[in-house]
Amino acid sequence: MRHAGQSRDESAAQAGGSRIEDLRAVACQRTAAMGRLEGRQAVVTGGAKGLGAAFARAMAAEGAHCLIADIASAQSVVSQIRASGGKAAEIPTDVSDESAVRHLAQVVEAELGGLDILVNNAALYASLEPVGCLDIDADLWDRVMAVNVRGSFLAAKHLAPLMAKRGGGKIINVSSGTAYKGQPTGMAHYIVSKGAILAMTRAFSRELGPMGICVNTLAPGLTLSDSILKNQPHIEMAEDSVLASRALKRHGRPDDLIGAVLFLASSESDFVTGQTLAVDGGSINT
Ligand SMILES: NC(=O)c1ccc[n+]([C@@H]2O[C@H](COP(=O)([O-])OP(=O)(O)OC[C@H]3O[C@@H](n4cnc5c(N)ncnc54)[C@H](O)[C@@H]3O)[C@@H](O)[C@H]2O)c1
Repeated sequence: MRHAGQSRDESAAQAGGSRIEDLRAVACQRTAAMGRLEGRQAVVTGGAKGLGAAFARAMAAEGAHCLIADIASAQSVVSQIRASGGKAAEIPTDVSDESAVRHLAQVVEAELGGLDILVNNAALYASLEPVGCLDIDADLWDRVMAVNVRGSFLAAKHLAPLMAKRGGGKIINVSSGTAYKGQPTGMAHYIVSKGAILAMTRAFSRELGPMGICVNTLAPGLTLSDSILKNQPHIEMAEDSVLASRALKRHGRPDDLIGAVLFLASSESDFVTGQTLAVDGGSINT
């Protein structure tokens, strides 16, 4: 409509402008309704609790169908996701066991027809007792490597081919800031395993890039997951040095990691591979 004192051109421009605004609003609503991971199939290892559960909930809220592969029961996370209208299922899996991971890949292929996202999160971490490097039992050392390193390798080995068949995908390896700086109070078995994850990301990104698969590392700092909150000695052992090392002087919470995970899982990071994204309040510089 043309108002008094308004030229025909001004009135037309205003009408056009409001049409464009309307179209923008519809587009935004559609994008929001669709979610950043709509239609994607995802596997989250170790997603039954702790950070993995937070990652699965966040990815499902963005539209991904999340399969949780954990040695522990993921029933409660799966129920929470479904109750909020998301899609999730659990496939009990010991990631250190190749036959179990092969079975996981077969189920993923049969039930989902392929895979877009793998979050290699399963690890022995919160359940480990703080221990100095000279006192680590050799069998425990091997078990930590088997779950944390071999487990991430096996998941990539058997699940990346399902991504390649679709023309690409995203692997998010979960490391730790401790791999960059060690920890005066111990846990060398864990820290060494997380150093291997950094190297795995670099090695695998080179080989899987031509298949369209991006491989990146998320490196959280000490984050108060529900798992770590149950192991107070971990927190007490590390918190003073961790807080002193941070530019942002507060504890990390699972929600602090969600933006980085969704970025690495979504098409927003399609040209990012072989990188480490540290989310730790500015403790390390990658
Ligand atoms: N919370 C932190 O402060 C912190 C900091 C840096 C990195 N991380 C990393 O984040 C990830 C999650 O940590 P979290 O705090 O939730 O601790 P967590 O120990 O509870 O998480 C590990 C998950 O892996 C599962 N798991 C263990 N062994 C397995 C196996 N053999 N097969 C399959 N699943 C197995 C556990 O059941 C659990 O659900 C780990 O990779 C950890 O190293 C955590």
